[in-house]
Order: sequence, then structure tokens, then C-alpha cells
Amino acid sequence: MAERIAVIGGDGIGPEVTEQARRIVDRAAQIAQRSLEWEECPYGADYYLEHGVGIEPGRFDDFREHYAAILFGAVGDPRVPDMAHGRELLLGARFQLDLYINLRPIKLLDPRLCPLKDKGVDDVDFVIFRENTEGGYVGVGGAVRPGTIHEVAQQTFVYTRRGVERIIRSAFEFAQRDGRKSVCMTDKANAMRQGHELWQRTFREVASEYPKIESFHLYVDVAAMELVRCPERFDVIVTENLFGDILSDLGASLQGGLGTAASGNIHPGRCSLFEPVHGSAPDLVGTGRANPMAAIMSGAILLDHLGMSGAARTVEQAVIDQLASGEVTPDLGGNLNCVQVGDQILARLG
Ligand SMILES: NC(=O)c1ccc[n+]([C@@H]2O[C@H](COP(=O)([O-])OP(=O)(O)OC[C@H]3O[C@@H](n4cnc5c(N)ncnc54)[C@H](O)[C@@H]3O)[C@@H](O)[C@H]2O)c1
Repeated sequence: MAERIAVIGGDGIGPEVTEQARRIVDRAAQIAQRSLEWEECPYGADYYLEHGVGIEPGRFDDFREHYAAILFGAVGDPRVPDMAHGRELLLGARFQLDLYINLRPIKLLDPRLCPLKDKGVDDVDFVIFRENTEGGYVGVGGAVRPGTIHEVAQQTFVYTRRGVERIIRSAFEFAQRDGRKSVCMTDKANAMRQGHELWQRTFREVASEYPKIESFHLYVDVAAMELVRCPERFDVIVTENLFGDILSDLGASLQGGLGTAASGNIHPGRCSLFEPVHGSAPDLVGTGRANPMAAIMSGAILLDHLGMSGAARTVEQAVIDQLASGEVTPDLGGNLNCVQVGDQILARLG
């Protein structure tokens, strides 16, 4: 039976890059003798301006029950300056589908892309497991006397034992499955005692169940320095929501910028969402200059999620070979357009 995938291109270059990812994932799945059924969804700024909502009520329940995955482009349009539709779509998906793993593979696909001196593809190859449903992003807090000099604003970080444990366990399970040597947990327990004590204790307990995997801890400020000084120290990093958000973008720079940075918002075994890290790049719309590689690499994570790891590695290798050929979009110094890069990567799949 075909597995159903929802495609939400969104705004700006989202639909262009997603279309390339869609046809490449489809072909890779076909080679793996699996059948995918794609459904284009109209969500984005146009939909929001027409309907007054980012997505119909109940649609996430539909995704959870009837779809294997969502392939997402990007949101962001000057006509919706407060990004209300983007929050409804992306935060809505994270919370309503309980996508508790934000998976960010940080892998340098070509040595020429690395901004660090004397570092190569073997040095930048780690995966960040960012907790995606708790911390400072739960929306708990408020403001008193806003707009006055007596204003008080409060934003609360929320951690639950269940939430912390499941993301740490996912990191160790991945390390074990993927043959990785170590898991690093990073927090700020020296300053944020209450919340991050829970992270420390839970990390020690879960780590003890995986004696073959080295476990270590770094405060997040040290982790940021070490990522730049010595990225080869890291195999798997697990951390809370805000720190994961920041470190993942640092990681995107280490891997050569937005051109190839991919992500998965995942609940294992359930409908999950896959998207490039970049935004809607309004400056590139209609120019053909959008690089589809980050979307295609997000498609590779989608294939992994659906149990097609062979197909995922084939897509990754096709992107690596494409980069090596120098036949790329202008952001990476080439002169191909988005569709031409998609065509060539597709051809590499055989
Ligand atoms: N997850 C998301 O949907 C997401 C993420 C980040 C930003 N945004 C939104 O996107 C809009 C634009 O934001 P921004 O300009 O800060 O970030 P952006 O990622 O859209 O663009 C940053 C820079 O990178 C370039 N760029 C981005 N993607 C590219 C690609 N695939 N190929 C070649 N060049 C690319 C752009 O031209 C721009 O110069 C805003 O509305 C923002 O809120 C959305």
C-alpha cells in the first residue's frame, strides 16, 4: 500500500525546492520498491490571507492518522509580518503531532564548504538531538504593565521527566544504531539549577543503560566553543530546545551554511515533518537561484524515517557527488538553476 506524504511548499522558494526534493525522494523510494502517494497542501501566506487561519482545525489529527510524513518547504512572507501562519503551521505541527525530536545532522558534504581552517569532511560529522516540545518554547509566561517603564516580562522554561528522558534515550538509541562512539549532553546546570539538574540526573541514568557508548557533559557555552575549536570531538549532541536551536545554527555554519542544512521534526513511528533549515528567501523567488540541496537532504532524513535507509544514503551520496562536480547553484559558486540541480541529482540515482 502506498504511504501518503503531505507536501507543504509554503512561501517564497519553499515550493520550488520542495518540488525537487519530492521527485528525488519519490524516485529513491521507487528504486527501493516502495510506493509513495504525494498530496500537495496549499498552506502558506496566500492560504492564511484568504482563510484567516494557517491550517484548518483538525488537519493535524488527519496528518497523524492518515499520513506517514510531511515534506515542508519554508514559511515567511512580508504580507504576514507577525508570521502568525508560520507559527500555526510549524509550532502547531511540533506540538500537535508531538514531534519531540528535532534532528539536525551536521555533516560537511564537501571540504570546500567548511569555514574552519584545516578541517575536513571527517571532522564535521555529528548529529544534534534538540528537544522540540518543551523548554522556553511552550509559551508559559506573561507580561505586566506592558509598554511602561514598570513593565515586567516573564518567560518560563518547562521540563518534564518524560520529555527529558525520551529525547536523551532517542540520542543514545540513535548512537547505538548508527555506530557512533559518544553522546554529549549540554546544558547550563551551573546557572539554571532547577531545570537542568533534571537533565543531569536523567542523562546519568539513561547513559548507564548504554555502557558501550561514551557519555560526557559540557556546559552550553563550552560546547559552543568546542564545536568551533574541535568539531571532531562530537558524534551525537543532546540538548534542550533553546540551546539546540542555537547550536544547530552554529552547526549549519560548520557544514557550509544554509545550502545543505537539513532537519527532521520527528516522533518515531508516527507522522513527522522534514524541512530545510533555511527560510523562504523572498529575495530569490522567481530567479531560479534557490539551492534545492537542503530540501533534498531533508528528504533523505524522511526516507530514513520511513525505514528506507539504503535509499536515504543513495540520495545523500548523489548530493555529495553533485557538490564535488561543482555543478551547483550561485550560492555555492555555480551557475545552475534549482531545476537543473534537481535534474542532475535525479539522474545520479539511476
Ligand atoms: N523554517 C522556516 O520556514 C523559516 C526559517 C528561517 C526563516 N524563515 C522566514 O523566511 C523569511 C526570510 O528570512 P531570512 O532572509 O532571515 O532567512 P532565509 O533563510 O530565507 O535567507 C537567508 C539568506 O540565505 C539565502 N538562502 C536561503 N535559502 C537559500 C537557498 N535554498 N538557496 C540559496 N540561497 C538561500 C537567502 O537568499 C538570504 O540571502 C522570513 O520571513 C523568515 O521569518 C522561515
